[in-house]
Amino acid sequence: MSKLSDQHRIQLLQLIANGAFHSGEALGETLGLSRAAISNHIKALSALGLDIFSVKGKGYRLAAPLSLLQAEQILALRRRPAVGALDVLNIIDSTNQHVKSRTAELASGYACVAEAQTAGRGRHGRTWVSPYGASIYLSYFWSFAQGYQAMAGLSLAIGVAISEALRELGFADIQLKWPNDIYLNSKKLAGVLIEVEGQVGSACDSIIGIGLNVALPSSLEGIDQPFTDLASVADQQVDRNQLVAVLLDQLDHTLQLFEQQGLPAFSSAWQQLDLFRNKPVKLILGDQTVRGMGRGINDSGAFLLEHEGQIKAYHGGEISVRADD
Ligand code: BTN
Repeated sequence: MSKLSDQHRIQLLQLIANGAFHSGEALGETLGLSRAAISNHIKALSALGLDIFSVKGKGYRLAAPLSLLQAEQILALRRRPAVGALDVLNIIDSTNQHVKSRTAELASGYACVAEAQTAGRGRHGRTWVSPYGASIYLSYFWSFAQGYQAMAGLSLAIGVAISEALRELGFADIQLKWPNDIYLNSKKLAGVLIEVEGQVGSACDSIIGIGLNVALPSSLEGIDQPFTDLASVADQQVDRNQLVAVLLDQLDHTLQLFEQQGLPAFSSAWQQLDLFRNKPVKLILGDQTVRGMGRGINDSGAFLLEHEGQIKAYHGGEISVRADD
């Protein structure tokens, strides 16, 4: 897409963001475009996952009002001085990829957020469905001078940071599913994908990607597990700028504390949020399944499973934990 059409699409979105009807003619006049061009932009925006109604004689309307992400607003809503720079992007392949290709020029604490991702990445090589304006797609960069071993349990600390941010905004019933998922009412609300770059024995760069469902379109397809969003439980529209501000405050604090003290600073908070604590679970390790009771995590962040009277620690990698009911 050319820079100019990208610009037109953003302007068009800003015009219809209030959720009211706008005629194609009026939109065209404001943007200096033909009605056909407006109709094409609307189609392209719908293809990115926006719920846009088109009603004969009335025009176009977003299913719900949308507040677009804005760097100045996010910065104004922050309560701590930002550790790193922030970029607000519009449509991007993947925010993690955006960070990954720039690690050489970035300093710890850098973050970027995007309105939509066309190739959002999930764990285990899955795709993270990333419709426009519907969620938070955030990547945060941190370089660990002490190397790879200093990162043990990082995803668990990030889970705690996200749940703290949500609690601050009034979402109290958050639970964490080892190692990387954030749950609300037994359904997945958010996921964390940490990508790591570095050599053994030297500093290690981490790219912490967070996908958090805010108000997903009703017609969403392509997600292969039960999921939810904040709009399902919120009594008013969730302000994504505020959510990003609170998340960044938490991430800055969490990474600084994690670098000094590691996982022990977060273990007890994690255990209190553990979705599977004292619950029957099955662990899927490749083609093998082990059944038992979830018993929390150990100091290095391994999952503890009680099986036939013995507690065994299971480390990351390709393990998935599921409820066994
Ligand atoms: C998971 O599979 O649960 C992890 C999902 C992580 C998705 C986020 S969205 C922002 C960042 N950029 C990506 O491409 N992925 C992560």
